[in-house]
Amino acid sequence: MKREQPFFKKPLDRRTFFKHGLRLSVLGLLAFMFTRRDNLKIETVPLAFPNLPPAFNDYRIVQISDLHAGFWVGADYLRRVVDRVNQLDKDLVVVTGDIITGAVNDFWKRWLPVSNRDYTAMVARVLGNLKTGHKLAVLGNHDQWHGLETEQRLVTELEKVGIQFMRNTSLPIARGNDALHIAGIDDVWFSHDLPRALKKIPPGGFKILLSHSPDIMSAVNKKMRIDLTISGHTHGGQVAIPYLTHHFMPIDNPARYMAGLVKEDHGYTYVNRGIGTLVFPVRLGAPPEITRFRLFNAKTQPLGNKAATT
Ligand SMILES: [Fe+2]
Repeated sequence: MKREQPFFKKPLDRRTFFKHGLRLSVLGLLAFMFTRRDNLKIETVPLAFPNLPPAFNDYRIVQISDLHAGFWVGADYLRRVVDRVNQLDKDLVVVTGDIITGAVNDFWKRWLPVSNRDYTAMVARVLGNLKTGHKLAVLGNHDQWHGLETEQRLVTELEKVGIQFMRNTSLPIARGNDALHIAGIDDVWFSHDLPRALKKIPPGGFKILLSHSPDIMSAVNKKMRIDLTISGHTHGGQVAIPYLTHHFMPIDNPARYMAGLVKEDHGYTYVNRGIGTLVFPVRLGAPPEITRFRLFNAKTQPLGNKAATT
């Protein structure tokens, strides 16, 4: 009769037990982080401004950012994002950069040997299903990193499906005699020009700035009177470990601009945690986000504690 083999060849000593336990825990954590990478959250951000033109009371802007269409972020997930955006009541959709993942250097080109051309076409096909009137976008560092040819192809493909790029320029949105002004800049590591973007806005105009990176705030001064800056770039840390992650963030002031709403001397900055992932397809403590801003006139709409006020 055949003798049964023991499960472990050697008796399990304490060291081996902890070694196996540690490996299993790391694998379990990675699996958890992998499954959380597309656990979309809708964040509603009500804001009250004393100077919001009355015709724009309860104006709604939906923001998506850092899609990072690429090797790890495919059409199925992005279609789900577009479906969620389409279900929200809104007046405007803004896409704040890093729409594709640009191959940063030869290391990534070697390990992710796929064409940026595919991602650009794919993301244009998916974003073409966004249903709303105005759709505005700005470029992020990844959109500009891969060179002028990729950058221009991305702009052309998205403009074909009705998404207007704000490249160091502004756009008035009118309702009767009232107007608000949306300015947008190229990425701060590349061809941004904030003074040019603001040039055509009348001095007292209500201003919203689209900037992929919150680093633009070091160039914004009180005199510019920007009421709301809408940004992304940080992914909220992506793997947000307290006291650790902010040391690796590619921004000037991670303690202030890691994620969420920041009160400025004049107005607010909002930093969206993004949709996609970069480098590894994992997230922890920083779920992917669709943001829905509701803008109110503080004088005509008493909101109590529901909205932050300037
Ligand atoms: Fe990004």
